[in-house]
Amino acid sequence: AVPVAAAGHDGRVVTVAHRGASHAAPENTLAAVDLARSLGIAWVENDVQRTRDGTLVVLHDPTLARTTDVEQKFPGRAPWKVGDFTWKEISALDAGAWKGPRWRGQRVPSLAQYLDRVERTGRNLVLEVKQPQDHPGLAADIVRTLRDLGWLDRAHVARRLLVQSFDAGSIRTVHRLRPDVRTAFLGTPAVADLPAYARFTDQINSLHTTLSPGYWAAVHALTGPHGRRLEAYAWTVDDPARAVTLARWGADGIITNRPDLVAAALRRA
Ligand code: G3P
Ligand code: CA
Repeated sequence: AVPVAAAGHDGRVVTVAHRGASHAAPENTLAAVDLARSLGIAWVENDVQRTRDGTLVVLHDPTLARTTDVEQKFPGRAPWKVGDFTWKEISALDAGAWKGPRWRGQRVPSLAQYLDRVERTGRNLVLEVKQPQDHPGLAADIVRTLRDLGWLDRAHVARRLLVQSFDAGSIRTVHRLRPDVRTAFLGTPAVADLPAYARFTDQINSLHTTLSPGYWAAVHALTGPHGRRLEAYAWTVDDPARAVTLARWGADGIITNRPDLVAAALRRA
């Protein structure tokens, strides 16, 4: 087992701002990181994909249509898939106006820009390897970028970084390339399959409606690749009362669009 320091939450339930503080700020933008800092939320989650010319960018959907003005700027390029556009094209899009006029001018950040803002604001990152089926080799590209930008030193891997994906193959790749990095599988595998996951992932992060206290007991009974008990986060939990229930069931973390409300409820509970 590769020794790493304890996850940076001192035994408390971690509140993670889903796509940044995305209830008010436009998701996956630098403004959403800044708002998480203003709210005192230590962890932000993002989604990473790749442009046609190989730049890693932070965006959730497989296409640019919902969260940018791509349809106006490039009307002939439907269905506006992320991997069909260059970084120069994507970086010129507006990624804030859809959320309200005050956010006009926000851009789709490159992963490098996003990491820089997370670093400067002193936040920690749950990075999702997104749509890897559209971006062959994405997990390895992300590991290389994290390394080149100083995010795989001892302090970051011990306390400030978690890499997650719905795609078990991507998580296995991250674990193989950098066994010191904490990883999470997004899903709710059958209890009988959990020991296989525990060989390459430290956490099982599940859609909260699929969970039960018994399931988490099975997760917590296992030891992950770093010799610690497997952890369990729930997503996407916007009802503070539900977050408190999940905390009582043993949540190690709650991923939420309302980190302000959830963190306050967890503090009171
Ligand atoms: O962090 C969990 C969550 O982000 C997974 O769902 O679709 O919002 O990426 P999605
Ligand atoms: Ca995500």
